[in-house]
Amino acid sequence: MSSAKVILEGNEYELPITVGTEGEVGIEIRSLRKLSKAVTLDEGYGNTGSCKSAITFIDGERGIMRYRGYPIEQVAEQSSFVEVCYLLVFGELPTSGQLEEFSDALTRHTLLHEDMKKFFEGYSSSAHPMVILSSMVASLSTYYPPTTDETLDLNILRLLAKAKTIAAFSYKKSIGQPFIYPRNDLSYTKNFLHMMFANPAEPYEVPEVLDHALRLLLILHADHEQNCSTSTVRMVGSSGADLFASIAAGINALSGPLHGGANQKVMEMLRRIRADGSNTKKYVEMAKDKDSDFRLMGFGHRVYKNFDPRARILKVAANRVLDELKLDDSLLDIARALEEVALADDYFLERNLYPNVDFYSGFLYRAMGIPTNMFTVMFSLGRLPGWIAHWKEMREDPNGRIHRPRQIYIGETERAFVPISER
Ligand code: SDX
Repeated sequence: MSSAKVILEGNEYELPITVGTEGEVGIEIRSLRKLSKAVTLDEGYGNTGSCKSAITFIDGERGIMRYRGYPIEQVAEQSSFVEVCYLLVFGELPTSGQLEEFSDALTRHTLLHEDMKKFFEGYSSSAHPMVILSSMVASLSTYYPPTTDETLDLNILRLLAKAKTIAAFSYKKSIGQPFIYPRNDLSYTKNFLHMMFANPAEPYEVPEVLDHALRLLLILHADHEQNCSTSTVRMVGSSGADLFASIAAGINALSGPLHGGANQKVMEMLRRIRADGSNTKKYVEMAKDKDSDFRLMGFGHRVYKNFDPRARILKVAANRVLDELKLDDSLLDIARALEEVALADDYFLERNLYPNVDFYSGFLYRAMGIPTNMFTVMFSLGRLPGWIAHWKEMREDPNGRIHRPRQIYIGETERAFVPISER
């Protein structure tokens, strides 16, 4: 199989194909318009490959997900978030020496420039932390040099290290507590929890169970091939925009409720169901009703037509952590009941709608004491290495070019302008 044929208005056009290492077939349509004057149309890009990538492989039918070839189940079980950052960005698992050097460098870049603290004085205490995160990440470019081949590795370290500080500071700002500075003796995840929950009035020791839960959450969110926000990072970066600007764009794309914002919406949905007598059947019926704009948040996925492997892992982890902490989360009971009702319903089964990564992640964030409006910020901290890896891969592609899709125009055909005096 070396090519595909398109027959259009009696003419036949032969198009080359590309086959990936996992057997995925891509019809290369770069010459289609020149040959046939036609373009393809795929609203939402559900069947369109925007690039070739070696970072993450997903098989939606079989519920497979691998980072640089390593199955997510093994990575989640055995790796650390810093190690996953290295793997995604640089392509291989680090040696112990490389990991120690990378981890030390991240630690040393965790502080924000003191002047950047002043930015927080301008935000209202009710400012959504995703808005703060995206604007503070974009503002990093006002303190650090543009990202070039020479500054790339350092800007990657700055971004990975400082994003968690920005996130923690935005939380402290929202509760009126003083910022807590990072400590160089703590791991990436413990440092974040320290900055979030320590306060000058009393010592704070990061509970191991929460440190492990955060490690798992960050690893599971680290990359997911061409999702909306990652494609946004590649799109913006393809114009030559700086790393900080491209990542800020990705953060904004992730904030949407159909994407990363879903984890916050899942909790809001479960609270609504609990307040309405925990009538899960009623809400499953509402989700099926085309006249209702209600959707089961945390359900469904463009790619997974099987269980999202991350949801499986998070469901087990949520049960384990809540048991270990002896926390009784009535919302988890509602989530379980909702899943049971939905997965016995033909509407969901026919459409392959299963719980996705956002359905159970919120229970772990809640167990840590992280407020709902910080959930998507947590998703961003996890996805950061993936965004960076894709930006780097796109910029290093010798065939790379600015992303500029075509369209099919459906507006007015030519008409003469009408002066205001005649309207
Ligand atoms: C993430 O892309 C990624 O990889 C994203 C992500 C990542 O790691 O980056 O995995 C993270 O964003 C997960 C998804 C989080 N979003 C939600 O949980 C929001 C709820 N889900 C849906 O809005 C929806 O499932 C999407 C947005 C996730 C996927 O949308 P699609 O692929 O465009 O599917 P669709 O809207 O065309 O739905 C197909 C059918 C429709 O019904 P019919 O027109 O066939 O009758 O399924 C229905 C939809 O109405 N449907 C749902 C539903 N999701 C889809 N019906 C009820 N509840 C839902 N949640």
